[in-house]
Amino acid sequence: MNKIIIDSLSLQYSDGTESLRNVSMAIPANQITVLFGPAGGGKSTLLRCLNRLNDLTEVRASKGKILLDGENILDPKTDVIALRRRVGMVFARPVVLPLSIRGNLTYGLELAGETRRSRLDEAVERSLHLAAIWDEVKDRLDEPAVALSGGQQQRVCLARVLALQPEVVLLDEPTSGLDPISTGKVEAALQELKKDYSIILVPHSVQQAARTADHAAFFLQGELVEFRPGQEIFTNPKDKRTEDYVTGRFG
Ligand SMILES: Nc1ncnc2c1ncn2[C@@H]1O[C@H](COP(=O)(O)OP(=O)(O)OP(=O)(O)O)[C@@H](O)[C@H]1O
Ligand SMILES: [Mg+2]
Repeated sequence: MNKIIIDSLSLQYSDGTESLRNVSMAIPANQITVLFGPAGGGKSTLLRCLNRLNDLTEVRASKGKILLDGENILDPKTDVIALRRRVGMVFARPVVLPLSIRGNLTYGLELAGETRRSRLDEAVERSLHLAAIWDEVKDRLDEPAVALSGGQQQRVCLARVLALQPEVVLLDEPTSGLDPISTGKVEAALQELKKDYSIILVPHSVQQAARTADHAAFFLQGELVEFRPGQEIFTNPKDKRTEDYVTGRFG
């Protein structure tokens, strides 16, 4: 089943940069879809379209549709706040709130009106488990989140997104600043998460793309060059440009 269908999406920033050119792809539910390719390919731009974060940047023109469960989220009538709850995002650098670990997780829910302590506690524990960090922080939930290591903070940021029970989780190079052990923990968490969520990941390397992808899309200068299931794109690329990139000839 497809969770998201991107149909002929083009986007031009106000300085004239054409960052997405007629991109069409179907993103399956309960899988990890990886968007990879060299710098400036449009990967972050595409992620930002999926929860309308590009509303906050200077876009001159965009065309096309993005259907989430069949509804076009680019429609001006879309409730963007509700959309961003359904489609959560984790960024490259963990930005924890200047609150306790618990506070980081309950903040969004409290904003959304949840006041019941039992519900909040439940959400804290559930989302920390899902983000594979519960064991490391369960005895220090009231300590400041900034006191955690970078790798732990990133998993708290992931947990914070999960606490709001999104349907889709977008991750833009979530492990770029992390050591291999923390990276492994985040990748393992994603493998668990896909049972319940649709995951779209911009990996920080081709190796990470190959390790994590159920489906992989190669982007070059705003163009979706190739989109294939499983490991095919890495083992048997069809396009010469994909082949050059995955074999390390450029990038
Ligand atoms: N806010 C913006 N205003 C103008 N141009 C932008 C903006 N954000 C991105 N761009 C341009 O759009 C193109 C795609 O950028 P984007 O950040 O989506 O690429 P990317 O694939 O995520 O690259 P990277 O791997 O470096 O993160 C680039 O040419 C970039 O300069
Ligand atoms: Mg990017």
